This record gives sequence, C-alpha cells and structure tokens, in this order.
Amino acid sequence: MSLRPIAADTPDPAARRKIIAVASGKGGVGKTWFSISLSQALSQSGQRTLLFDGDLGLANVDIQLGLMPKQDLAGVIAGKLTLPQAITNYREGQFDILAGRSGAGNLAMLPVQRLVTLRDNLMRLAGKYDRVILDLSAGVDRTVQTLAAAAGTALVVTTDEPTSLTDAYAFIKLTVADHPEADLRIVVNMAETSNSGRETYETLRKACYNFLGREIPLAGIVRNDSKVRESIRRQTALLTRHPSAEAAQDVEAIAARLKRET
Ligand SMILES: Nc1ncnc2c1ncn2[C@@H]1O[C@H](COP(=O)(O)OP(=O)(O)OP(=O)(O)O)[C@@H](O)[C@H]1O
Ligand SMILES: [Mg+2]
Repeated sequence: MSLRPIAADTPDPAARRKIIAVASGKGGVGKTWFSISLSQALSQSGQRTLLFDGDLGLANVDIQLGLMPKQDLAGVIAGKLTLPQAITNYREGQFDILAGRSGAGNLAMLPVQRLVTLRDNLMRLAGKYDRVILDLSAGVDRTVQTLAAAAGTALVVTTDEPTSLTDAYAFIKLTVADHPEADLRIVVNMAETSNSGRETYETLRKACYNFLGREIPLAGIVRNDSKVRESIRRQTALLTRHPSAEAAQDVEAIAARLKRET
C-alpha cells in the first residue's frame, strides 16, 4: 500500500513518513495509552522510536508511566532547551519520550508560528529515529491540526460510542478537507470482541465513504481489557506488566502492520 502524506509540501518527505499521529476527536478514548503501547511495540520490533506528547497543556504520557522527567517541552517553549535536549529515555520501554507538562495551559495556546516552529523541529528530529509517535490532544482545534500536519499517517482512535464515532468522523472530515491526500487509518479501541470492533469500524467506514467519498482503512482493533486499567493504575506499561494480555497482542499486531505498510 502506498503512503500518501498528510501534507504534500514537505521539505523532507522521508521524515514525514516516519511520523504517526494518534488522534480522536473525542477525549478519553485511549489515545495516550495506545500511543505508549504502540511506541513500545515498535521498539520491541527493532525500531528506534520517539513518543512525542503533543497534548501540550494536559500532557500525561509521563503520568501513565510514573515518570518524573527532568526536562520537558515547557523548557523548549521557554527557549531554555533545544528539542533534543528535552528528550527522556524511557529505559523500561526502550523508547524515547518528549514529555509535555500537565497544567501548562500556555503550551496549548502557543501562537501558531511558534507551534509551526516546534513542529518543524520535530520533523528534523524524526531523522534520528525510525518512528515518531505523536499523541495528540482531543478535539479538532488548530493545535491538533497543525501538529497532525507533520505526520505521514494519522491513526484515528474511536470506541463504539456514538459520540466517539461522530467526533472521529469530524476529525477525518476536517483533515480530508485540508489534505485530500492524507493517509488516515482507523483504530477501534475498547472493543468488546474483535467482531463488534469490526462492526464499529464498518459504521465509520461507511459514513466516510458515503459522505466524503473516501475509503479509510482499518489499522486494527484493540479489545477492552481490564489489564489496561490495572497497569495504568500501577503506572506501568501494559507491554511490560502483562505482555501477553489481549490488548497488548492487539497493539503488537497493529505495530507489525504499520511497520509493513508505512
Ligand atoms: N483497550 C482498553 N481496555 C480497557 N480500558 C482502556 C483501553 N484503552 C483505554 N482504556 C481506558 O481509558 C482510559 C483513558 O485512556 P487515555 O488517557 O489513554 O485516553 P486519551 O484518549 O488519551 O484521553 P484524553 O483525550 O483525555 O487525552 C484509560 O485510563 C483506561 O482506563
Ligand atoms: Mg491523552
């Protein structure tokens, strides 16, 4: 399958192809958990991976993992650190993290030009990695759209809830309007079974096809798994704590497919 970048006017298409954005529209559908797990699965399959916490004002990659990074994006925005200086190595998961800072509301309200500079620096940094995973905030606002434009592929996460499906559709609609060539794929999270997850996907696929004229492929289905909540409560990555959990296997299958296809 050929990869169509979200924005074709990139100075470095190779860097863009390495960046995978994780978006949703609706909040709380599992973007951050999925981004962490995908980063770990890619790293386990031999890819040098960076996870960028793009939820600038309400960052929580570090919270889910129980980390206390010494440096984060707030230092970059304040002009005290370069982007590479703000990287934390997460040894247990064997991937790097660019942590945000929760509660730093000013990060979410960066003037667009500074956001674009941050994004362009991230694209430069992507050259040092095989993959960069970009955990975006909920919503379809300018920050989300600006950061998402760095990505060669965007994974749109939804659950079976009508509000989640509607918001995922809104994200897809806006992205397709701005970037008709975008490589978008759907992740159904918290599916009761693989079959019900497929039905959820079909609902969204049909809406995109009927109203936008676009076939959006399925990246994969992740089952609802109590071990996800348990490992988040313990601030430990699922793939470390329960490597054979159903949800861990589902994410690994998605990582393997992305490695092959993008
Ligand atoms: N596959 C799953 N099985 C069971 N629970 C899940 C699964 N995925 C996510 N969750 C639950 O959903 C909660 C929300 O996840 P997460 O914080 O990653 O969502 P989010 O989309 O990043 O939210 P926000 O929009 O606030 O950034 C988790 O704390 C976890 O309890
Ligand atoms: Mg999140």
